[in-house]
Amino acid sequence: MNYPFWDVGIGYGLLMAGIAVVHVFVSHFAIGGGLYLVVAETRARKRNDKLMLEFLRKLSKFFVLVTVVFGALTGVGIWFIIGLLNPTATEALIHNFVWGWATEWTFFAIEITAVLLYFYGWDRMTARAHVIVGWIYFGAAWMSLFVINGIITFMLTPGDWLVTGSFWDGFFNPTFWSSLWLRTGVCIMLAGLYALVIASRYKADDFKKVLVRYNARWALAGLVVMVPTFYWYWKSIPAAITSTALEMMPTPIASLTGSFWNAGLIAVALLLFGLIIPKKYNIVVAIIVMGFGLSWFAEYEWMRESIRKPYVISGHMYGNALEVARADIYAEEGYLSWIVFRTGDDGADLFRRACRSCHTVGGYKALEPAFDGTDRDFIAAIVRGTGVIKGNMPPFMGTQEEAELIAAHIHARLDNRHLGEIYGLGGVELGRKVYRVRCGGCHEIGGYNDKWESLAGLTADDLGGILDMAGEFGDEMPDFTGDETERQALVEYLLSLNEGGTR
Ligand code: HEC
Ligand code: HEC
Repeated sequence: MNYPFWDVGIGYGLLMAGIAVVHVFVSHFAIGGGLYLVVAETRARKRNDKLMLEFLRKLSKFFVLVTVVFGALTGVGIWFIIGLLNPTATEALIHNFVWGWATEWTFFAIEITAVLLYFYGWDRMTARAHVIVGWIYFGAAWMSLFVINGIITFMLTPGDWLVTGSFWDGFFNPTFWSSLWLRTGVCIMLAGLYALVIASRYKADDFKKVLVRYNARWALAGLVVMVPTFYWYWKSIPAAITSTALEMMPTPIASLTGSFWNAGLIAVALLLFGLIIPKKYNIVVAIIVMGFGLSWFAEYEWMRESIRKPYVISGHMYGNALEVARADIYAEEGYLSWIVFRTGDDGADLFRRACRSCHTVGGYKALEPAFDGTDRDFIAAIVRGTGVIKGNMPPFMGTQEEAELIAAHIHARLDNRHLGEIYGLGGVELGRKVYRVRCGGCHEIGGYNDKWESLAGLTADDLGGILDMAGEFGDEMPDFTGDETERQALVEYLLSLNEGGTR
């Protein structure tokens, strides 16, 4: 907690996703496009295909603008954002991989130099030298993927590094190779998709037919590489991570399913407009297919980032930048004394460190629905129980007093009317709401950590007894601190379930 906290209203996740997705969509093209240019140029020169060479020259201009200008700017943008959002995790990545970054930047410098030479060299270099420069560009670009892939995959699957702390264990981690080939497939697919954008603007003659088919085959070849390598990648992720994701994380899994659909849509569009009726591949089709490509990428990256939860570096650092290894220290000394930049409002500072990197009170991933109409003791218990609540959150490692300070901070920003009044509910309906708010995060009836077995068939008195001793069931299980109306409504609701009432 050595850095100040940057409070961004729209939430960390969205800000990061916004910049990262456009960056990867361009940077992978920067690699695949390099391969496309040299391979297509070599082929065109051999056949003395003037039209194709003309097309490649056009494409290379678009390529330089998109990759060098936009790609580099968004790349710097990512550093800027992660440095502000999670300076501690950024610091960990820099410390562990300082020579990795230095290598990556070296390749990047070669890449930029080579692409400019390539672009300005069409008329100024011999054919042979021009193609060689193209290969140098592609080699350096792919090597920068090679390096950065080691660091990105490390965050999800650090493997033996957790024990050895060795650079090479972290770099060549369990998902390194599968991810490298998967991303190489993506690069090739994107080369085809981007080239199709330029080709789509050609008039519908025989050259367009040949060109569109050629580009569509590139994109399809990329997809063909992506299918088995994705499967390989998924299988290389430790089963504990993937099975938790499948059981507990509906959103990233929906995202994954969405990415399969998008890949399917790309394939269908390419087969139809790319291969069967290539002259009809106009700018509208091209933009739609690019849209599918962008959505595919967004869904894949979103999934990859989300299944890492509750960590930012699996097993090493939680999403809120707290190190796993310091759990005992925090449990004993609390968080506060470790927060270097303090604002004077301890509740706010603690809330930022413990929860704010993922939640806001009233905006993105709001806490209001979970806490409106509840009391401070309940909120404090939930703060202490984050490690067992559905959602795969980091555990709270601080002290009881700190949990209470966080609770007070949140409570002061909520709707503090009675639960029944806020939602206009009474009787069984109110009971269902009480269950949802006060129990549902930890026990879903018929779902996550279900306790219905222990409650089914009990009388009103027994249920009352259970609520009285609630706090004794487990460390994280809160006391029942709702008022008499809530208690009666909850009991009524639970009794109604015995008679087959709706959950
Ligand atoms: C690393 C990110 C992260 C951190 C840090 C975090 N949460 Fe969460 N929290 C989540 C996610 C993800 C969910 C699941 C709901 C969702 O996807 O929107 C969730 C769900 C919740 C829920 C709703 C449970 C339910 O379904 O009723 C509550 C309440 C909650 N968090 C409270 C907190 C509190 C309090 C803190 C700080 C002590 C905290 N969280 C810290 C990510 C986080
Ligand atoms: C912050 C998380 C959390 C909340 C909220 C919560 N519980 Fe629990 N509950 C636990 C934990 C932890 C245990 C003990 C370990 C376990 O069985 O998972 C537990 C145990 C129980 C048990 C004991 C089951 C048995 O057979 O031993 C029952 C019954 C139960 N809870 C009911 C409830 C009800 C009813 C509510 C709402 C009023 C509730 N819980 C709210 C976390 C929670």
